[in-house]
Amino acid sequence: MEYDLRQNVVRFERTFDRGPELLVEAPGRVNLIGGSTDYNEGLVLPVAIDRRTMFLSHRREDERLNVYSTGLSCSATMVTTGDEMAQGWLRYLSGILAELSRRGYRVSGLDLLISGDLPIGAGLGSSAALEVGFLCTLRHLNGLDISDEEMITTCHRVENEFVGMKCGIMDQFVSTRGKEKNAILLDCRDMSYEYIDLDEELLTLVLFDSGVKRELIRSDYNTRRSECFSSTDEIRTERAEVRALRDLTLEDLPWLETFLEPTKFRRCRHIITEIDRVRLAGEALGSKDMTRLGELLRSSHISLRDDFEVSCEELDHLFSVALDQDGVYGARLIGAGFGGNLLTLCQPDRATNVITEVSDSYRGRFGSTPGAITCCTANGVSAGWIE
Ligand code: GLA
Repeated sequence: MEYDLRQNVVRFERTFDRGPELLVEAPGRVNLIGGSTDYNEGLVLPVAIDRRTMFLSHRREDERLNVYSTGLSCSATMVTTGDEMAQGWLRYLSGILAELSRRGYRVSGLDLLISGDLPIGAGLGSSAALEVGFLCTLRHLNGLDISDEEMITTCHRVENEFVGMKCGIMDQFVSTRGKEKNAILLDCRDMSYEYIDLDEELLTLVLFDSGVKRELIRSDYNTRRSECFSSTDEIRTERAEVRALRDLTLEDLPWLETFLEPTKFRRCRHIITEIDRVRLAGEALGSKDMTRLGELLRSSHISLRDDFEVSCEELDHLFSVALDQDGVYGARLIGAGFGGNLLTLCQPDRATNVITEVSDSYRGRFGSTPGAITCCTANGVSAGWIE
């Protein structure tokens, strides 16, 4: 979907009887590898993508937020003092306002139009883009002295505390710090990171949307997180220095198997092997070894499917058909899992063919066509005044 700025400016004018003064764009993300390692203080390797949520805004004299979302065809009003707790998707906005007020920031009212071409709820980081883009809008309109780092941690806290999705830091980080033609090797323990070149002449990112949107994704995700944390607590009774699963290595696996209950052991095995794969994937990407990178993605999917158990029939079908195609390096489910998208790494000249073949097979099996898009890497959130 091409994003039409002009059309949205007109929509803003019609909705609010004047033009916007600020445009903010916050990108979605694709994590090349590192499924669920972020909240275990491990490594991830995401890229920001050229699908974004857009925020057109204009300050108001009072303390009211008037918002219209084109994607959800929904409008709402609330105060900007942080005293009002909204429901549904508006919780992201009221959570940001409440968190800013808790931190002692005051913000003026604003008219806001939210639009864009980032699919909502498809596992491409749309929640983080909404938080980051909204907070960036408030930062600019009010000249708030908030660093990027504070923006990331504020948005992360809002999602954990106000929305109730106990996610890791990755999505907010990459929507803020993404860089075109680069992946970010991020250490989620201390937020240290390095950019690694991603050569788009060698690699195209194709996303297949399984179309599966489960109501329970949030609670399933939180259950996996609790399983990881309760395993960590158990491990700590034996080795007090273990703060997170991140502190264990492949060599610890035989020992863990001696006392962890089998399901917990498999959850831990996924996290420990996955962190190792992220490290290796960073090296493979750096040395442009796409075949090796693809193999690591494939192992990641298998581990997410069998040990972490966050896949589903539709994703597994897409996975096996994608891997059968010429020019595919590797594939894996991304995001929280239980539905959402399969990332496929392809040779650029094979992408169209791969999309046709995989879509045909999916249609033959499930009777519907999966959404399929190619995407490019992009920069993190940006803001610009409109003349
Ligand atoms: C969701 C969360 C992230 C991360 C991924 C799984 O996208 O928001 O923090 O845990 O799932 O890798």
